[in-house]
Amino acid sequence: MKDSYGREINYLRVSVTDLCNLRCRYCMPEEGVCKKRHEDMMSEDEMILAVTAAASLGIRKVRITGGEPLVKKNILSICERSAAAEGIREVCLTTNGILLPQLARPLRRAGVRRLNISLDTLQPDKYAYLTRWGHLEEALAGLEAALSAGFEKIKINVVLIGGFNEDEIRPLAELTMQYPVDVRFIELMPMYDSGDFDEQAFIPDRKVLEALPELKSLDRNGGTARLFHLPGARGDIGLIRPVSDHFCSSCSRLRLTADGRLKPCLHAPEEYSIRGMDLEGMCQVMEMAIRSKPRWHGILSSENRSRAGRNMNQIGG
Ligand code: GTP
Ligand code: 5AD
Ligand code: SF4
Repeated sequence: MKDSYGREINYLRVSVTDLCNLRCRYCMPEEGVCKKRHEDMMSEDEMILAVTAAASLGIRKVRITGGEPLVKKNILSICERSAAAEGIREVCLTTNGILLPQLARPLRRAGVRRLNISLDTLQPDKYAYLTRWGHLEEALAGLEAALSAGFEKIKINVVLIGGFNEDEIRPLAELTMQYPVDVRFIELMPMYDSGDFDEQAFIPDRKVLEALPELKSLDRNGGTARLFHLPGARGDIGLIRPVSDHFCSSCSRLRLTADGRLKPCLHAPEEYSIRGMDLEGMCQVMEMAIRSKPRWHGILSSENRSRAGRNMNQIGG
């Protein structure tokens, strides 16, 4: 279905949990989230009903996110049932990779076609600092497991953080030489008010172009990313610039949070609950949410932080 600005909304991001096995400093506080009561969160059946309702309105792609979606006990069943919903053409998933050694193959078998894996540094001490306790070797083992599980596409998400990983732009980009993966550098969005990575840590995506002068620009449409390629590489480099530019005019997304709220825009406070509704009720609220999607999210900067009203782990990116 089209929104009021003529954009075709065909992509639903479903956050299946706000819990995570890491605590990335730009995403969530060290203490995590107050565990909500079970009955405040969507049940698996409600999620599948929501996916079915969305599909009936023209959603074709579902991306499962979190928090960390792989900490959810019934994740395989959620993926399998989403992939089987009539009208859904592809189910993709975004993960930190830690649990992929156990779950990569089962996820592929459950019908997940593409994976995006977050990896912001290749140095073990920096990985432990950023994630507050993660082990880099576990994330890398997850990447290897994903590579051998036969996904159609694997993308690595790198959030650009000034003073933290700007010196690693080249080694991170060169993962595309070593593996058949895309690497996407993402500008840090001013969401969670972390003292460690505040506005000083923002660096624009042109730093990537400066660090990699040999990058060749590609004409292909990379969705949210502008695409480039390193000579001889097996995958592409993407630049996602939600801050220094915005891709709202081509936005195709609707979001559903783990507590059952539809978010028409990542950076806007508006939310519409679909808890406790039947298929018809969900369709009505979804139509309303799509119609109310704003034209754009407004300027994002230190003075104009995201108006999302939630941390990233409670939206799913
Ligand atoms: P593809 O399906 O592979 O294109 O994935 P994706 O880029 O839609 O999803 P992913 O979960 O990998 O997110 C990558 C980055 O883009 C994250 O930092 C997200 O927060 C950000 N992102 C995704 N959708 C939007 C959006 O609608 N607006 C903004 N500003 N950022 C977004
Ligand atoms: N800015 C940009 N990207 C972010 N992510 C989490 N928080 C932020 C932020 N503040 C990324 C994660 C993950 C994706 C879903 O969103 O690293 O790859
Ligand atoms: Fe967890 Fe992802 Fe947030 Fe890191 S960015 S704390 S891995 S949800």
